[in-house]
Amino acid sequence: MLTNLKEQPKDKILGLMAMYREDPRQTKVDLGVGVYKNAEGVTPVMRAVKTAERKIVEEQITKAYTGLAGDPVYSEAMIDMLLAQSVDKARLAAVATPGGTGAIRQAFELIKTANPKARVFVSDPTWPNHVSILNHLGIEMVKYRYFDAETRGVNFDGMMEDLAEVTGDDVVLLHGCCHNPTGANLNLTQWQSVIDLINDKACLPMIDIAYQGFGDGLEEDAAATRLVASSVPELLIAASCSKNFGIYRERTGLLIAMSEKAENTAIAQGNLNHLNRQNFSFPPDHGARVVATILTDDTLKADWMAELEETRLGMLALREQLASELQRLSGSDRFGFLAQHRGMFSQLGTTPDMVEKLRVDNAIYMVGDSRMNIAGLNKNSVPILAQAIVDAGI
Ligand code: LMR
Repeated sequence: MLTNLKEQPKDKILGLMAMYREDPRQTKVDLGVGVYKNAEGVTPVMRAVKTAERKIVEEQITKAYTGLAGDPVYSEAMIDMLLAQSVDKARLAAVATPGGTGAIRQAFELIKTANPKARVFVSDPTWPNHVSILNHLGIEMVKYRYFDAETRGVNFDGMMEDLAEVTGDDVVLLHGCCHNPTGANLNLTQWQSVIDLINDKACLPMIDIAYQGFGDGLEEDAAATRLVASSVPELLIAASCSKNFGIYRERTGLLIAMSEKAENTAIAQGNLNHLNRQNFSFPPDHGARVVATILTDDTLKADWMAELEETRLGMLALREQLASELQRLSGSDRFGFLAQHRGMFSQLGTTPDMVEKLRVDNAIYMVGDSRMNIAGLNKNSVPILAQAIVDAGI
């Protein structure tokens, strides 16, 4: 039977990781997978994470199963961090999931269960795994215009025109902050227009938020999600702790389903638990316990927030350095968008051929759609990248 299997399409981001590893050139620059690296090129374990882990090792007396939804202390702490006081918590059902990807997968399955006719509208471009999971589940996907290739900002008029096609059966998937892959984000006035459209169409919004704290700050990055939550009847939120807690391999995510009325919450919760049970039973606990330990301890939380802020400011400084280096070398302002973008990524807006040329000639690795992981840079590699971009005539 297994001989019937066909080769699966390669994941572009993960394929690039392998190519980078195999490149022997000393000067290689990895701007591929979305992993934060400090100035020394290391993805550090955050201080508060280390302390929380030590505490867990000391104090944990059992590894027996938690609940299907994971530890409620984790869900409550995450809900507070994401939504603060923006909604009545009695309307929220939540489950811990294996990473943000697990939350996205469970959300799509929930959508399919609730309405097999649902189409999911995704930004063009979006994180490639959104597309891949939707295809895998056989859910119809519709792309809406998002990135303006000229300005490298959001093509908001195009986006709204395309979203005018949404019906009450559909889902609109939005990136809560730090859009992946473009780095271009809606402002709060634009978010309000999207909310008005969602309410007008009576469709279901879904927010993927994987970079809270990497854009304008922990609170600022949650502002759009909170605005949506306080303005619509129903909402799905897929959140990830991989980046902001730096616990990538621990697989720590959360799926929230917000119902219109508190009396629907128990059914929504039962469905989320059921999906966990069918797919993997109990969600992983270690990362969630680390996050809960940090968020419920004032000292640890303050230390984590301080380190997250250092990380964010470091990425912003790299953005500014890159934009000004490009300005100097090209004698033009056409790369100013790099300083305006937010989060880990920026889409340079060049062709796959140019991306390939940068890899072959300069050992610079970025995803084929010209997405660059800004956190993969450091003070010394910024001038190398800028020179290569200008030399390639981009
Ligand atoms: C990325 O977009 O690079 C990250 O979210 C990692 C991944 O799993 O693709």
